[in-house]
Amino acid sequence: MSKRIRVGVLISGRGSNLEALADYKRKADPYYEIVLVASNVPEARGLVLARRFGLPVWSHSHKGMERAAFDRLIDAELRRHDVEVIALAGYMRLLSPEFIRGWQDRILNIHPSLLPAYKGLDTHRRALLAGEEYGGCSVHLVTDELDSGPVLAQSRVRVEPRDDPETLAARVLQAEHELYPRALDEFCWNLIVERERRAGAIDAGF
Ligand code: GRF
Repeated sequence: MSKRIRVGVLISGRGSNLEALADYKRKADPYYEIVLVASNVPEARGLVLARRFGLPVWSHSHKGMERAAFDRLIDAELRRHDVEVIALAGYMRLLSPEFIRGWQDRILNIHPSLLPAYKGLDTHRRALLAGEEYGGCSVHLVTDELDSGPVLAQSRVRVEPRDDPETLAARVLQAEHELYPRALDEFCWNLIVERERRAGAIDAGF
């Protein structure tokens, strides 16, 4: 098998999805390896988890910095680690258009709703207020427009009669932990296949 795709994970907080991505190695032989965990919040709990997994960590507060300037810092760090794919995992900052352009079709995000429904924040409360039968989560590509890029994978979670936003969020989070590693793995597998196909075509002189 070709070498694994080098993934950089961006986080801002708790890091439970990062943990699921890192832990996936115990269940499968993934086509990705996490080579950097970066955060705009130096005290993020997720960084503690990352260190526990022995992953390289970088953090820098975005406070007082312009968005584009801060994103250039992250960009440099990701490139220094030869990152090929970025996985946003609770990264609570909008990325600048320049950054997104530089990583086009290479940034994944997990969002706690069945996109295109309930983009943005506070998804579970809004889903409950609307009387939805299902909540869920989506893995999607990141584009300039918030939570609007092509959806790669989704998982549905049934709303229970006594759910409040917290109980629904907790069950959706479990579903996120199942979905994200599999979706990232499949994305990376496809990249490898595509790369080998191109290399084959070049070798064959096409
Ligand atoms: C998750 O609900 C994810 O869907 C959203 O932010 C939350 C991050 O949680 N994008 P964690 O930091 O991975 O625990």
